[in-house]
Amino acid sequence: MDLERLVPSYIKQFQAYVPSKPDEELKRLFGCPVLHRLNNNENPLGPPPAAREVIRQFPPARSALYPSGDSYSLRLALAERFGKEPGQFLVGNGSTEVITAVIKAFCEQGDNIVTADRTFAVYEWVAEFSGVGRHLVPLKDFAFDDEGLLARIDGKTKVVFICNPNNPTGTCWPLEQLIRFLDRVDGRCVVVLDEAYIEYVEQANAPDGVALLDRYPNLVVFRTFSKMYGLAGLRIGYLVGSLSVVDLIRRAYVVYSVNSLAQAAARAAVEQGGEHVQATRALMHAGKAFLREALGSLGLPFLCHEGSYVMVKVPVSDTLLYRRLMKRGLMIRTMSGFRFPNWIRVTVVGREVLEQFVEGLAEELKPVL
Ligand SMILES: Cc1ncc(COP(=O)(O)O)c(C=O)c1O
Repeated sequence: MDLERLVPSYIKQFQAYVPSKPDEELKRLFGCPVLHRLNNNENPLGPPPAAREVIRQFPPARSALYPSGDSYSLRLALAERFGKEPGQFLVGNGSTEVITAVIKAFCEQGDNIVTADRTFAVYEWVAEFSGVGRHLVPLKDFAFDDEGLLARIDGKTKVVFICNPNNPTGTCWPLEQLIRFLDRVDGRCVVVLDEAYIEYVEQANAPDGVALLDRYPNLVVFRTFSKMYGLAGLRIGYLVGSLSVVDLIRRAYVVYSVNSLAQAAARAAVEQGGEHVQATRALMHAGKAFLREALGSLGLPFLCHEGSYVMVKVPVSDTLLYRRLMKRGLMIRTMSGFRFPNWIRVTVVGREVLEQFVEGLAEELKPVL
């Protein structure tokens, strides 16, 4: 077999992302009996009670049947909740899946996407392994740079990805900035607003992308059930946009990718998740207040804005610190691979674990602080 001839150059050059090992394996490797996951921005409170109940009651026999191929009932629930048409929603196996559908629907070779250089990396990766160009605009003061993005849009740009709030820096464009940006894009390309962390936002003037859809038919909003709704393990997220745009994206998406249990649990979260959102927001608020104080006392530079995570700049190698904290049962995210050398990202969780994290961090950094 002549692999050289069969494989496109952009696949040959692409380095596949290696996910972390299962927790049990990591505990064995690092010799820690308990492992606290502060690496993936998972909700420490888990799913809302109504979703838990759906999971508990799921009839095993239903596993033999295919799910609704287009998440029919969930889309009805989402349409009801947001005052939109069910046809404006496309549900995917995590919102990561809908990223691929958007790029496939609009981009061919020679086209490009525009996004930031230090944001959720999947936009860039999907473009790269699809042979699509990437215009990566440096962050400005850790935030998406609107002028910089506009300057990189050209005749071949099909999609702009804006992560709001940005993962990993937590910065969030205010509504006026987003409106100004959308007006200046003026329908030349699709603008994706990834609102994976929207339910955590405390800033008063933050936009709600869904509320802008009627005004901007080229706007597409991503949301996920993995973060606030604690369903990361079931893999479910969605996009919402104008009927005409979503109709095109749907052509580049393989139906039946979302399992029945995920659809049912997500529907319960949409319909009955209100109290859970409030409880999680309270936990985040308290956790961030604690971290601001504690990291400030250690004299470490940090970013603590919107979202369920903070970033900390450390005076040692982030990968070395990762290994040291792992031995203490604390798994953080190293950020060197995300173009933030010697920064770490830490999920905001309950007070007890955050105290352990700060204590571990202080002890490991003692020789250099
Ligand atoms: C900004 C952003 N978008 C999308 C996702 C993907 O979410 P999902 O689990 O729905 O694929 C993540 C997950 O970390 C994220 O941080």
